[in-house]
Formats: sequence, structure tokens, C-alpha cells
Amino acid sequence: MKKQFSSLVAGLSCTLVMMMATPVMGQRFSEEMINQGRYLATASDCIACHTSDKRKPMAGGHAIDSPVGRIVATNITPSRTFGIGNYTEQQFADAVRLGVRADGARLYPAMPYTAFSYITDEDIHALYAYFMEGVKPVDEPTEPTELPFPMNIRASMIGWNFLFANTRPFEPDAAESELWNRGRYLSVGPGHCATCHTPRGFTMQEKTGKALQGAHVGAWFAPDITSSSVNGIGSWSVEELMTYLATGRLEGKAQAAGPMAEAVTHSFSRLREDDLRAISTYILSVPPSDPIPSVTENRFDHGGPGDLLVDFRGTSYEDGMRLPGLGRGAQIYSANCASCHGYEGQGTRDAYYPSLFGKSITGGTSTANLIAVILNGVERETPQGGHVFMPPFGDQDNAMVPLDNDEIAALSNYIFTFYGNPGLSVTPAEVQVIRDGGPKSDIVLIARIGLAAGVLVVLGLGVWLFRRRRANWG
Ligand code: HEC
Ligand code: HEC
Ligand code: HEC
Repeated sequence: MKKQFSSLVAGLSCTLVMMMATPVMGQRFSEEMINQGRYLATASDCIACHTSDKRKPMAGGHAIDSPVGRIVATNITPSRTFGIGNYTEQQFADAVRLGVRADGARLYPAMPYTAFSYITDEDIHALYAYFMEGVKPVDEPTEPTELPFPMNIRASMIGWNFLFANTRPFEPDAAESELWNRGRYLSVGPGHCATCHTPRGFTMQEKTGKALQGAHVGAWFAPDITSSSVNGIGSWSVEELMTYLATGRLEGKAQAAGPMAEAVTHSFSRLREDDLRAISTYILSVPPSDPIPSVTENRFDHGGPGDLLVDFRGTSYEDGMRLPGLGRGAQIYSANCASCHGYEGQGTRDAYYPSLFGKSITGGTSTANLIAVILNGVERETPQGGHVFMPPFGDQDNAMVPLDNDEIAALSNYIFTFYGNPGLSVTPAEVQVIRDGGPKSDIVLIARIGLAAGVLVVLGLGVWLFRRRRANWG
């Protein structure tokens, strides 16, 4: 009896193990494989770009503002008509790692395949399993990407890839620890930190030798996160960086808004603690950027509490708006910001409403993020940090108190002078650039001129050849 029972248990657990390891009827992949793929998709933040409607994850439609125009991320659900349902694993691997679509067309590097080239075969297999069987198919098309000529010629990416895409597989460095290697894999590959944080050259390639030294991402600026203690985050500990990645804030130093808030919300805050430790260990080992003569103070050390408001007690708002210099900014600040961030920019004691001094956003070298935060507000949601929200002030139709370019410039100048890097200043025209999605590149113009020059050279060559042949004949 006892023996029968134990063999029954053994039999049952054997079936159970088999059930876990083998796919459910009609499925090609095991739950375990699909879950591994889901975790990797989270670490790679596929959802941030490939989702525009929260109810339809991965169905695409979200447009990425690139310096050459808007590039629409496609539907990557397993829909056979509008998604990637017909992709084989090899085609999927080539799209993700090499930027080649199933029909052979080249993808624009707005899809970070240059980073994803690092993803191992095993992880590609898991990702494929997840996209084929863990994502719900959505049978809807996305808007086409329409870039200006000549960027609309996808084949031009073949040349670009040849010159710049350092698509290389991940190779562990035997001299480093397992934790560091895992961190490098996740940061360089799936986490694609460099896509946003590494400056790009004039043909949009990531500058080699300048890894993570700070770059514009649309309207935003992703700061230097090298180990330099003046320009970068060399003053942060591994635990501090882990806290920032998990919650999107590090009290007294920085908060994540814009694209970083999205990455924290969908990706980094959902990673296992050991993986966050690995990423942080690796990032803090990245070589420091070269000193910049104009930057002598760390961006987390600028500014202090203070205000100009005492000077204007009793001045009406309308009169205040006519004040010269910083007075106008002070009035705008007290009317719109002080209720949450404090009359002296000190924030609240629990730091839910952060102080504005000693912060990366006001003490850095770029004015973009302060303008972008005023225009767009802040929104972030993490398991540990809850829902964080600051209202936008830029939307002229929907903001409770819309501020125009002039007002935002005056307000920013007040904030930089009192709470941040007093060397920074903002003009209304610069606010408009951020409203429009950030600085545009001259690359389209250059490519057009380049193309025209190319055509002229070919024509000239043709004429010359023609004449020579005529000369020879004659
Ligand atoms: C930073 C934004 C971004 C991220 C992150 C991203 N993608 Fe993309 N992806 C794009 C864009 C944009 C396109 C369309 C590019 C084009 O049209 O040239 C694209 C295209 C694709 C395509 C080609 C589909 C087709 O047939 O048009 C596949 C497959 C794909 N992505 C898979 C993924 C997977 C899997 C992940 C996560 C591992 C991912 N992407 C993460 C932006 C992104
Ligand atoms: C989609 C673009 C994007 C990606 C991907 C991204 N970042 Fe960021 N990151 C930003 C932006 C933009 C900011 C500035 C946010 C702000 O100040 O509100 C930022 C800020 C930060 C900061 C704070 C620096 C400071 O001084 O405030 C750290 C640290 C950071 N990122 C680390 C990382 C790491 C590590 C990765 C990869 C694992 C990563 N980021 C991936 C865009 C990105
Ligand atoms: C209703 C309350 C509220 C008001 C009003 C408000 N803020 Fe905020 N602000 C917040 C919250 C909440 C955050 C996000 C804190 C976090 O990220 O953890 C924030 C964050 C910020 C940040 C830091 C963002 C970053 O990426 O580091 C700046 C700068 C800022 N606010 C400036 C302003 C200015 C300027 C105004 C006035 C135009 C203003 N805020 C009005 C609540 C408010």
C-alpha cells in the first residue's frame, strides 16, 4: 500500500514536472520559456515604444520623435495580418539584432537593434516564445512612417549599418565578476542605456569613446551617467543607483521624468533585485568622462533655499508680471509652483514634492529637462514608489494653468538663478524648440545636399566619359 502510494506520488510529481516543462496542448513553447521571455521583454522595455494604447500592449502606433522625423513603432503582436505572427524565429532574431525586417527591408535605428545585437541566442528564443504565445494578437494596422527624402529610402540604412552599427554579440569578460558581466549584458543589451545616454555624431551614430556621457533624446536630455564624480554619477553608491532605478527617485539628488520615468515604470522597477545590483555595479564602473573646464561643481551640489518674494509682498500678480528681471519669474513661481515645491524651493518634508535645489535637473548643464518638466509634468508608477504625478503646464488647451513660452522662460531663469546652475538661461525661442519635440538635425538637409552633390559628380563623370569616348572615336 505504502509503496503503491509513493509510486503514485512519484508518478504524479513526474507528470507535474513534465507538465511544467512541456507546452500546453496547442502551444509550441513551455510556460517557463514564455515567462523568461516576458522578463526579458520587460528588461528591454519593448512595451515603451511598441504601445500607444495601454489596452493593446505591443500593438504599435507610438511615434518616436527622431531628429529626422517621426518614426512609428510597428505592431509586434502575433497578429498574422498586421503584426509579426508570420515571423520565423530566425526572422525575429534578424529584426531584433540586425534591424532587418522579415521582408528584407531595413529598420531605422529608432528600433535599438544596435544595442539588442548583444542579446544571446537563448534569450532571443525566450523572447520569440513570449511574443508568439504570451502576447495577445491585435489585428490592427499602424500608421506608416513617412520620413522626408532621402531618409525614406530604407536601403540607405545598409550603408549606415556598415559604417556605424557595431552589432556584436555579448562576450563575457573573464577578468570580471559574474555580477559585473550580468550587469554589462543587461545595460548594454536589453536595457539599452546607451541608446539614450550616449551622444550621437552627426549621422546619428553613437559616438564610440563617449559611452554614457550624456545626450539629447527628443525634447529631453539624458545626463552623463559615467563614473566621473563631477560630470557623472560617480558620487552615487551601488545602493543609491539601485534605489533610483527601482523607484525613479533618489532623495536629495534626482527624480526621473520623461523617457526615464517611462523606462523606470515599465522596465527597471520590475527587475529582480540581483539584476538591479548587477546593472548598478556595471554602470558605476564605466570609465569617467573627461573633465569639462566650465563644469567644476557636481550637478547635485548647486543652489540652496531662497526666494525673491519678500521684495514683492503686496504687489499684485498683474503688477508682478510687469516686473523687470527675475521678479516676473518669482511671481510665476509663487502662483504656480510654490504650493507644492515650497516658497523657498525646499519641497515638503517627506520629499514627495521634491526640493528644486541640489538636484540634477536644475544643477546640470542642460536647460531641456526643466523646460520639459514644466511643459509635460511628471508621471511615474512603480511597485515600491507608488504613483507620482505633477500636472503639466504646457498644454494650452488642457493644462489647468497654461503657461506660454515667455512665462516658462522667465520662470526657468528664476529657478536656475536661485535653485540651480546660475550659468544657465532660457529664451522663449528655446521653450518653443522643446515644445516641438527637441532640436532637429540638419542631417536631412545634408543628405539632400550630399545626394545633389553625388548626382552632380555622377553627371560630371558621365559627360567626361562621353567626351573622352567621342575623342577616342574621332
Ligand atoms: C526605443 C524604441 C523601441 C524599443 C525599446 C523596441 N523597439 Fe522594436 N521597433 C521600434 C521602431 C520605431 C520600429 C519600426 C522601425 C522602422 O519602421 O524602421 C520597430 C520595429 C520592430 C520590429 C519589426 C516589425 C515589423 O515587421 O515592422 C520588430 C520585430 C521589433 N521592433 C521588435 C522589438 C522587440 C522584441 C523589442 C524588445 C526586445 C523592441 N522591438 C523594442 C522601436 C523600438
Ligand atoms: C528611453 C531613454 C532612456 C533609457 C533607455 C535610459 N535612460 Fe536614464 N535617463 C534618461 C533621461 C531623459 C534622464 C533624465 C530624466 C530626468 O532628469 O527627469 C535619465 C536619467 C538617468 C539617471 C539620473 C541622472 C541624473 O543626474 O539625474 C540615471 C542614473 C540613469 N538615467 C540611468 C540609466 C541606466 C542605468 C539606464 C539603462 C539601464 C538608463 N538610464 C536608460 C533617458 C533614458
Ligand atoms: C500639484 C503639485 C505640484 C505642482 C503645482 C508643481 N509640481 Fe513640480 N513636481 C511635483 C511632483 C509630485 C514631482 C515629482 C516628484 C518625483 O519625481 O518623485 C515634481 C517634480 C518637479 C521637478 C523635478 C523633475 C525631475 O525630473 O527631476 C521640477 C523641476 C518641478 N517639479 C518643477 C515645478 C515647477 C517649475 C512648477 C510650477 C510651474 C511645479 N513643479 C509645479 C508636484 C508639483
